[in-house]
Amino acid sequence: MALLNKYRKIQEDLGIIGHSEQIRELVELIISIAPTNISVLITGESGTGKEIFAKAIHQLSPRRDKPLISVNCGAIPEGLLESELFGHERGAFTGAVAAKKGYFELADKGTILLDEIGEMTLQTQVKLLRVLESGEFMRVGSGELKKVDVRIIAATNRDLAQMVQQKHFRKDLYYRLKAVAMHLPPLRERREDIRPMLDKFVEDICRSENIQFAGFTEEAWEVILAYPWPGNVRELRNFAETVVVLSRGQIADAQFVREQLSHYEEPPEVQTMLPMPMGKTLEEAERELIYKALVSLGLDIKEMKSLLMQFMDRFNGGVGEGLVYSPVDPANNDSTIKPLDEMEREMIEKALDKFRGNRRKVARALNISERTLYRKIKEYGLTD
Ligand SMILES: Nc1ncnc2c1ncn2[C@@H]1O[C@H](COP(=O)(O)OP(=O)(O)OP(=O)(O)O)[C@@H](O)[C@H]1O
Ligand SMILES: [Mg+2]
Repeated sequence: MALLNKYRKIQEDLGIIGHSEQIRELVELIISIAPTNISVLITGESGTGKEIFAKAIHQLSPRRDKPLISVNCGAIPEGLLESELFGHERGAFTGAVAAKKGYFELADKGTILLDEIGEMTLQTQVKLLRVLESGEFMRVGSGELKKVDVRIIAATNRDLAQMVQQKHFRKDLYYRLKAVAMHLPPLRERREDIRPMLDKFVEDICRSENIQFAGFTEEAWEVILAYPWPGNVRELRNFAETVVVLSRGQIADAQFVREQLSHYEEPPEVQTMLPMPMGKTLEEAERELIYKALVSLGLDIKEMKSLLMQFMDRFNGGVGEGLVYSPVDPANNDSTIKPLDEMEREMIEKALDKFRGNRRKVARALNISERTLYRKIKEYGLTD
């Protein structure tokens, strides 16, 4: 019992919510491996908590006072990842005007989180393997071996075992990384976590936004608990923000909740044709619809707020164009055939605009890798 309370306390300090068997086992696991230097591979669908668990491992380790550096391997362009990780000497490549330390040097005695490790090229994987085995690496453009003491945590939502089979990921590195393998199950496989999580998110939002929330009806809870939560905890947190803001102090009933949830399932194009809510002023209705559209993009509340302010400023200024929910009239669609690259450029531009330059979201929406996106942005001379 005392041990259980101790775990609960640690979990609370780390900000990890959930009493499911799976979460309890994962917390026990990180408590036991945190003091070691063993590499950890964290897998799981998007939004399941890979990052929060990676941070927790660092927090529980003797390295906690040293840096935890998080590197998104998918967001850094292919040619740059190596020099970002290992640093470079002056003149190592065009543009290398001064020598620069890489993340490994900066994270010495600390931890590196290699997020989206599945995006790393085979060439960089070889170098990573060497650091893992010997702690040694060389800056790009240097022959001098440097030694560091860094704990590696890797995270991915891709199936690395399958990538190994397809020869897209080195087998030796894979085994080395997964000295400890942690899998974060999707929320739909640990439904008992939904309620405590939602309660806590709602409580936090009410406190930070200084608003009241009257709670959910029991039927509303039934809907929430049965929903598959494809975006996992991130979606649940966004949902909490939506209901707190939109319920305006009223109890959230099943229908209201369903409206918010079914909304998530609809592609953005369908959402753009939502009917106007009844019994509200035009401005209220507009704000609500914009808010819903923004929520569906999976933006954080801060991003949404700033966008919402921008939209409202625009309406209030009388420039009534650019409503995000204006249905597109197919009859007005110009059917002139355009060169494919022009369409591609337009689409990337549109997506960059829509996601306010968030390349990760843009790449996901366009179903290309962030690296490809980066290349195309350069190729088309786009700025975001
Ligand atoms: N067990 C949990 N307790 C509290 N908050 C959680 C928990 N799991 C996830 N979250 C929250 O949900 C959001 C998404 O989690 P996180 O960023 O760790 O997901 P991820 O698995 O890294 O997703 P992605 O693959 O998209 O990067 C974060 O705001 C995180 O704090
Ligand atoms: Mg993450």
